[in-house]
This record gives sequence, structure tokens and C-alpha cells, in this order.
Amino acid sequence: MKTDAPYLQVAIAAAKEAGRIQKLHLGQAHQVEYKGDIDLVTEVDRICEQAIVKVISDVFPDHDFISEESSFEDKRSPWKWIIDPLDGTTNYSHGYPFFCVSIGLEREGEARLGVVYAPVLDELFYAEKGKGAYLNGNRLSVSRVNILDRGFLVTGFPYDAREHVDLYLAYFRQFILKGFAIRRDGSAALNLSYVAAGRFDGYWELRLHPWDTAAGRLMVTEAGGKMTDFRGQPFRIYSDTMLGTNGSIHQEMLQAIQEIGDRWKAT
Ligand code: IPD
Ligand code: CA
Ligand code: CA
Repeated sequence: MKTDAPYLQVAIAAAKEAGRIQKLHLGQAHQVEYKGDIDLVTEVDRICEQAIVKVISDVFPDHDFISEESSFEDKRSPWKWIIDPLDGTTNYSHGYPFFCVSIGLEREGEARLGVVYAPVLDELFYAEKGKGAYLNGNRLSVSRVNILDRGFLVTGFPYDAREHVDLYLAYFRQFILKGFAIRRDGSAALNLSYVAAGRFDGYWELRLHPWDTAAGRLMVTEAGGKMTDFRGQPFRIYSDTMLGTNGSIHQEMLQAIQEIGDRWKAT
């Protein structure tokens, strides 16, 4: 099998550098700017983005980039790096230590690898297409929980939560009633990595961005889990809705979601 190992090494080097920067500035006063009512960005997001793009483009100058805080020239490369330089910015800016760096790589639109690095716990998650998912070198597999009633679940609320509060609470209500327990901990890339690691059994969220899921979706599938949208179609990083699970409780979660109907389409 052809290996993407040099790409993985570069992605890991970039993620570790950004993680080092995050840790260095954690707990300091940040320059907070508001991208929306409840959507903020700090100088650390931007510094991390520059550091990641530099590490990668020094080695692969012709590759394309999508990254949360900047636009990049389209070089029409088959290779595309999809980067969230700091996933969990709200946590970070409050000194709440649950955040990470997320780096995904696609070739001709197909996910090749994903790296998610959480510097506070020094946890490095990575996955390569067809080669499994790993945490600090140890192979990951999803949990074996096979009934939603025992499902330890996670979710997030999108930045338009104030406008669509009833819709988002409808899903939350369903899973309070049907699941075991729910966490909302503020980093989509880590949430997906935790599903891969068997820490969570299922994760649903609406309106994520490609950089939130580009690395984590591969982590889940390479660890034996399942990723779809709310219709049950294969998940794409541009999908409006996302359900990532250990596979065993996927159908039950999907059914609970579909009982809410298609109201998310209208919002
Ligand atoms: C956010 C986090 C959060 C999720 C939001 C994301 P950011 O990313 O992943 O958990 O609920 O939908 O936008 O803004 O911290 O990079
Ligand atoms: Ca994010
Ligand atoms: Ca971010």
C-alpha cells in the first residue's frame, strides 16, 4: 500500500508547533475580536495558523490550503490541507484547557490523513486512510456500547445558537431522554477524536465548518466508527449536519434525530 508517511510527519510537526504556541500563551490576556455575537478569535489563532502554513508550505510549496482565519490563493493542486489552527477558541480565551490543533489532508477530494493535537494533555491523535487511527502511537478503536440508553454523548452549539435555540434544544432534549449522559465541551475536532478513542459513543452537531471535521472524521472511520449527515448519507466536510458514532448506536441516534424532522433545513 502506498504510504502518506512524509505527509503525516509534516502534519505532526506543524500540529506540535501550533500546540507549543497555544500552551505558551495559555492563561495570558488575549486580544479578542468578535467575528459574530458569540464567535471570537484571538491573536493566538492567527499566530498558530501562520506557523502551521509555514511548516507545511516549506515542504510542499505547491499544495493548496483552506484554513479558518485566512484565504489562500487557489493553486489547483490535487493536495489540499484543511486547517483549524485552534479548535476551541472560546475555551482557550477563558483558560479552559480543552482545545486543540486540527489538520486534515485531502488528495483530489478524498481524505488522506488527519492530525489533532491537544497540547495540555500532550495527546496526539492521527489517522491515515486505510491504516487506522492512533493516539500517541497506540491504535484506537471505537467503544462497544450498543444501546443508546447507555450512550455517552457529546454535542456543540453553533455560533447561530441564539437565533435557532429551539431547534438545537430539540435535539438536546431527545438525547437527554434517550441517551445516558451528554457533554458539551467546545472542540469539534477533539470531540471526534474522543469518539475514535472510545471515550464518547456518539457526537452530533449542526453547521460545522470543513476545518472542524477534516481531520476528526477520518479518525472516527479509521477507528471503526461511522460518519453520516442527519439524513444518513455519507458525511462530507461541507455537510450541514453531522453524526459521528461508534457505529453500534448510529441507527438509534439517527432515528432520534429524524423524529425531530427536517426543521434544520428551514433555518
Ligand atoms: C468551534 C468548536 C465548537 C463547536 C463550534 C465550532 P472554533 O470551533 O469546535 O466545539 O461547537 O461549532 O465552530 O470556533 O473554536 O474553532
Ligand atoms: Ca473550529
Ligand atoms: Ca478555530
